[in-house]
Amino acid sequence: MPPLDTLGRPLRDLRISVTDRCNFRCPYCMPAEIYGERYEFLPREEILTFEEITRLARIFIDLGVEKIRITGGEPLLRIEIERLIADLSKLPGLLDLTLTTNGVRFAALSDALKAAGLERVTFSLDALDPDLFKRMAGRDEPPDTVLDAIHTAEQSGFAPVKINTVIKRGDNDGEIVPLARQFHGTDHILRFIEYMDVGTRNGWQLDHVVPADEIVSRVHDALPVEPVEPNYPGEVARRYRYVDGGGEIGVITSVTQPFCGKCTRARLSTDGKLVTCLFASDGVDLRSMLRGNASDEEISQRIQNVWLERDDRYSETRTEATTPDAFRRIEMYQIGG
Ligand code: GTP
Ligand code: 5AD
Ligand code: SF4
Ligand code: SF4
Repeated sequence: MPPLDTLGRPLRDLRISVTDRCNFRCPYCMPAEIYGERYEFLPREEILTFEEITRLARIFIDLGVEKIRITGGEPLLRIEIERLIADLSKLPGLLDLTLTTNGVRFAALSDALKAAGLERVTFSLDALDPDLFKRMAGRDEPPDTVLDAIHTAEQSGFAPVKINTVIKRGDNDGEIVPLARQFHGTDHILRFIEYMDVGTRNGWQLDHVVPADEIVSRVHDALPVEPVEPNYPGEVARRYRYVDGGGEIGVITSVTQPFCGKCTRARLSTDGKLVTCLFASDGVDLRSMLRGNASDEEISQRIQNVWLERDDRYSETRTEATTPDAFRRIEMYQIGG
């Protein structure tokens, strides 16, 4: 019987961070002042090998996981990532295998990822305006790189392609309508994410958040939309479709309308810690079990025990007083969002 946590939530999704490195320096995630050339990312021996990841994935699937998302940092910086995808895609019981990327290295890998068995892909894209894009990515790269990658993904047969945009008031809220127009009339699904107080380094304030209702109403004024039912119970994004048939968008309301009650997600950090909430202070070390000759059964038991005790519901209890540095927190790039 798959484990339920203390709030009755099953374990359904696993998000696996395959590297803590990134070729972007988004100021809200890896500000360049902190993550400079001398910053020491995890040494290779601390990072889970593909064999270790695949072994854990198999154990998680036996405990009820149906969906795996590969994240980072930037997952396409991990050498031979398509080999990991090929191994994971063969695991019986896995219904959905997907990956989140900033797109820079995607075009070169698109066909190989598809052939390896990757089913879907989500791109992060915070602005279309070239100067703003550069500022938000912390790197001298044009947004066309991401747009080209999205096009390549479509040609390789990934569908639907999703695009994630974090909206931070005063920075890129002016991009809401241009982005909506860019993907209106395509099969791609643009999702706006409320800016969250993840990690300790982004100086989050409540007034940086543009509430999802405001985002939707700004889109609606330019391109009318209407709500659509969720695709599956517990879907993170709220869906809307264009009234004129031009496709759909989503909003991820983690701040204004939290969805902890249906949160079935576990995260595996780059160094093999099991993390039960995006806002956790720490995770539970599984790597030492993997490397200490523990059996699959023992590892499975450990994961079950962690899940049975899980009581996380941070976003439902957040107040201004709890953010952003009231307690130690894992950084976003260590667990991939
Ligand atoms: P689909 O499989 O395409 O439905 O993806 P998803 O809805 O799981 O969305 P995705 O993994 O792309 O997540 C989008 C963004 O939502 C993440 O990058 C996070 O910023 C946010 N998010 C995802 N899961 C959680 C969560 O458990 N808690 C909170 N607070 N935010 C989350
Ligand atoms: N709030 C909301 N989303 C964030 N992301 C990174 N940091 C934050 C934050 N503070 C997003 C990235 C990417 C996804 C993995 O998480 O922009 O789309
Ligand atoms: Fe890299 Fe994503 Fe963090 Fe930006 S948000 S620095 S692309 S891991
Ligand atoms: Fe899940 Fe934690 Fe996000 Fe709530 S805050 S939805 S428990 S990851």
